[in-house]
Amino acid sequence: MDRSLALDLARVTEAAALACGRWVGRGDKIAADNAATTAMRQVLGNLDIDGTVVIGEGEMDEAPMLYIGEKLGSSGNLKVDIAVDPLEGTNLCAKGGPGAIATIALAPAGGFLHAPDMYMQKIIVGPAGYGCIDIDAPPSENLRRIAASKGCDIADLTVVLLDRPRHEKDIADIRACGARIKLISDGDVAPAVATGIADSGIDMVLGTGGAPEGVLAAAAVKCFGGDMRARLIFTTAEERQRAPGMGISDFDKVYTAEELASGDVFFAATGVTSGELLDGVRYFAGGAATHTIVMRSKSRTVRFLKSLHYFDHKPMYQVGKQQ
Ligand code: FBP
Repeated sequence: MDRSLALDLARVTEAAALACGRWVGRGDKIAADNAATTAMRQVLGNLDIDGTVVIGEGEMDEAPMLYIGEKLGSSGNLKVDIAVDPLEGTNLCAKGGPGAIATIALAPAGGFLHAPDMYMQKIIVGPAGYGCIDIDAPPSENLRRIAASKGCDIADLTVVLLDRPRHEKDIADIRACGARIKLISDGDVAPAVATGIADSGIDMVLGTGGAPEGVLAAAAVKCFGGDMRARLIFTTAEERQRAPGMGISDFDKVYTAEELASGDVFFAATGVTSGELLDGVRYFAGGAATHTIVMRSKSRTVRFLKSLHYFDHKPMYQVGKQQ
């Protein structure tokens, strides 16, 4: 893998964010997602890779673009798995809420778990919490270990969870041990990435969210040297029937980040709306600014890119403008 792929991926997520940025707060999450997906696919298609989408917008019969199994790229030399979420947090974008991102990860072919569109239980920490987490232990026990590893009080730690009734027991346990909580309405990839940024103010992400989002989070965790444990949550008979076809035989398996995203992994995300991790797309006369994080597991370099885009040189971003 060539390290310049990192910048290529930044271009891919910038394009998706610039396209759906026009839809922020407009109440139409489908249009926003379509705009991001179209733009992402266009830029991704020009990369010098022989890529296969393994985490995407859905199965071939339900998604016209970036569907699972779609082949992308302009060269036959570099065989890679592609994981995408062109707009992670569609509701956040539609309502103008915080933390929507456009995101992508690449791994050598076979590097990503082919996670079906189902739920995944996750616990994620940054490098300072490496080796401290146990998905079967109560959150308070995990927090005690993380606090000891970081040399701080439990009260100094902040845990992010999706605000869902299924997390009530965990929330009560975290509150009882004195840690701080941030409940989010959607979008658990961005906070997972934030655990790897020392001053982000987010120490742990916990709970059940999307499995595809879990693979994207694992790619990021691998890039910054954090720790993650995850388990697929089967809720229907159909999910159990489909799993073997996606290479999943042990339904109770606890996955590490390495098992979800292996090899030389690249990760990029651009803010659509502003959150703890990234600023959202900001428009000005004749252009827009984007904020992107890009990382590679081999070098562990974490880059933040502030980019200015001038529409007289990038007319495609004016097309999506709504009057
Ligand atoms: P979108 O697919 O609308 O972008 O939603 C993403 C998300 O909020 C993820 O971040 C999260 O993992 C999952 O949905 C949670 O699912 P649910 O809303 O069913 O609890």
